[in-house]
Amino acid sequence: MYSNKIISRKRLAKSTYEFWIENDMVSTHAKPGQFVVLRVSEKGERIPLTIAEVKGTSFRIVVKAIGKSTYDLCTRSAGDVLADVVGPLGKPSDVKQYGSVLIIGGGVGIAAILPIAKALKEAGNDVTVIIGARTLDELILKDEFSFADKLIMVTDDGSSGYKGTVIDAMKEQVKTQKYDVAWAVGPAIMMKLASNVANEINLPIWVSLNSIMIDGTGMCGGCRTLVKTQEGDEIKYVCVDGPEFDGRYVDWDSFMKRLEQYREQEKLSLENFIKQVGDLSWL
Ligand code: FAD
Ligand code: NAD
Ligand code: FES
Repeated sequence: MYSNKIISRKRLAKSTYEFWIENDMVSTHAKPGQFVVLRVSEKGERIPLTIAEVKGTSFRIVVKAIGKSTYDLCTRSAGDVLADVVGPLGKPSDVKQYGSVLIIGGGVGIAAILPIAKALKEAGNDVTVIIGARTLDELILKDEFSFADKLIMVTDDGSSGYKGTVIDAMKEQVKTQKYDVAWAVGPAIMMKLASNVANEINLPIWVSLNSIMIDGTGMCGGCRTLVKTQEGDEIKYVCVDGPEFDGRYVDWDSFMKRLEQYREQEKLSLENFIKQVGDLSWL
């Protein structure tokens, strides 16, 4: 069934919602690391979102409202129907037996690492998970990682677990245990810093790039990103070549600059949306 109907909606933290959406094309074919591109309404922008779980004919996403389109989505309720959903898109995570694996999720990126961590555990790896958020209230899905061999919870303000960022916890953890590969998903700055730490100890690290996307099919060039190869910098399209890349080779400066390029327009767009729909601080 491709109904794209919202089956359920649940508030996980301030401005952060979980949705189950009916679409068996996605639920049947999705693999860890893949994403969908959806539009809330016919006139809406396309939003790339990671598939956090699948069950039967539905799939789960976790969305943080940060701009017009994500605010629009987070105000929708069970029973509403999305204009369209395309997916699963992108290359799946390279799940196999590596040995010892370190997986790091920051903020809403915690939802993205959940299926990857589960699959790596099922593939026979020893899995350490570090999840971190600004405060305990934003530490989402913490009860869903009980399968991990080691779970380290971190909050910036120390309201729960280790006080500090996921990067502080990563630096401590790699001193005590040797890892064969790592994953890190969260804000760009966090993925960049995690990649720097990994680079110092020659640890391959997969990051999932949250670039601006338009069509999600490799045609528009909106998501293009520079990745260093032996032949020099190469242009990659995050939607079809990614979204995961070895963070040690991503050109982080140009990636983060591209993320900022529409900031003024995005701010205006959100302000206009709030004028139309009213105060959204309750979300
Ligand atoms: P825009 O109008 O695009 O504005 C966003 C503005 O918010 C920008 O100015 C930006 O600089 C700023 N901003 C960026 N990060 C933050 C932040 N953390 N807090 C506050 N402001 C910020 N998002 C999810 O919530 N869940 C997911 O599972 C997820 N998966 C993704 C998977 C992929 C492959 C990609 C490419 C992105 C993913 N994202 C995910 C990011 C999501 O697509 C964007 O947040 C969304 O497209 C933003 O659209 P918007 O119109 O709401 O905001
Ligand atoms: P956030 O800003 O609340 O940060 C979450 C955690 O990341 C912090 O608690 C901290 O531990 C770490 N962190 C953040 N900034 C840091 C810094 N400067 N130094 C060290 N550590 C730092 O996160 P958020 O608001 O939930 O945003 C999550 C981001 O994840 C969004 O930008 C979203 O686009 C991205 N995301 C990407 C994907 C993907 O697949 N690419 C999936 C989901 C989310
Ligand atoms: Fe258009 Fe990737 S989003 S090329």
